[in-house]
Amino acid sequence: MRVLSGFQPSGKFHLGNYFGSIRPNIEFQKKSDVSFFMVADLHSLTSLKDPEELRSSMRDNVLDFLACGLDTEHSVLFRQSDISEHAELTWILSTVTPMGLLERAVSYKEKVTKGIAASVGLFTYPILMTADILLYRTDLVPVGKDQKQHVEIARDIALKFNNAYGETFVLPEPQIQKEVAVVPGTDGQKMSKSYGNTIPLFGEEKEIKKAIMGIVTDSKEAHDPKDPDTCTIYQIHRLFLDLPGAKALAEEYRNGLPYGDAKRQLFEQCMEYFAPMRERRSILQKKEDEIHDILQKGAKKASGVASETLERVKRAVGLI
Ligand code: ADP
Ligand code: TRP
Repeated sequence: MRVLSGFQPSGKFHLGNYFGSIRPNIEFQKKSDVSFFMVADLHSLTSLKDPEELRSSMRDNVLDFLACGLDTEHSVLFRQSDISEHAELTWILSTVTPMGLLERAVSYKEKVTKGIAASVGLFTYPILMTADILLYRTDLVPVGKDQKQHVEIARDIALKFNNAYGETFVLPEPQIQKEVAVVPGTDGQKMSKSYGNTIPLFGEEKEIKKAIMGIVTDSKEAHDPKDPDTCTIYQIHRLFLDLPGAKALAEEYRNGLPYGDAKRQLFEQCMEYFAPMRERRSILQKKEDEIHDILQKGAKKASGVASETLERVKRAVGLI
């Protein structure tokens, strides 16, 4: 089984990215035969217009992945823009993609509503993502719920191509972790950097504390019973725990755990859980050359697979 994950280097990672995407992806490494981790820098250009910010997000996010346990012996970590086949396959796929398929993409409409410029690139974003997935003959794509439609679009485009030109692509499937499908932010809606409601993954300790202490709650009195199912503090805290731990914590909420104490517990849990990763990150941060080598090696491996797939595609359509 082959797995591919993609991340846009468009800012600092938060707990939503970690639990909804980074952690499941890293766990998947162990189950897959091969896994590809791609930093989707070409995708970022649709929303990020500051070159320095792109460069620093790129560096930060690569460090984040390595710190979180990405094993480069087993996985291929690479930058999308290092592999020119992504852009080339995008063009070929765009010639079999019906307009209607992209017009139905919810993410495009949401981004435009949020104020991102409605560029052609933003509209054809799912085709680039399809190329990312199909180039590596991917079986499974671990994503959060919000990206499910994009993987379905990739599957539809692969099917269209196969019907038109013969069996060329593997049909990919999304892999969604049900219990962490949407991680709530400090205001209770989906945690997202565009809503300013995030708890940063590798932020300064006081920044993390401030975010957690600012989680919005209802106005129950300190020792009133609380409902864990509707409480954002609990909904975030349970992500750190196994099932018995989460059940025990839920019981504490029902027994009247004050919100202030619940927040302090969450903060401590958060610092303890990420301590080894924070340490690894601070060591890696000083090894620029090592990071550079990892990306070079990744690009070489990725390029081998991508060029083989693109050659097949070119043969299928008659370009070779
Ligand atoms: P943001 O919404 O902050 O811009 P991205 O869209 O860059 O985050 O998401 C990167 C990855 O993290 C995606 O796979 C996405 O599904 C996952 N993700 C982001 N926010 C959440 C969340 N609140 N809950 C679960 N997964 C999330
Ligand atoms: N669109 C994804 C996101 O915003 C990132 C991405 C780009 C991706 N290419 C991909 C995810 C390929 C999985 C597979 O999160």
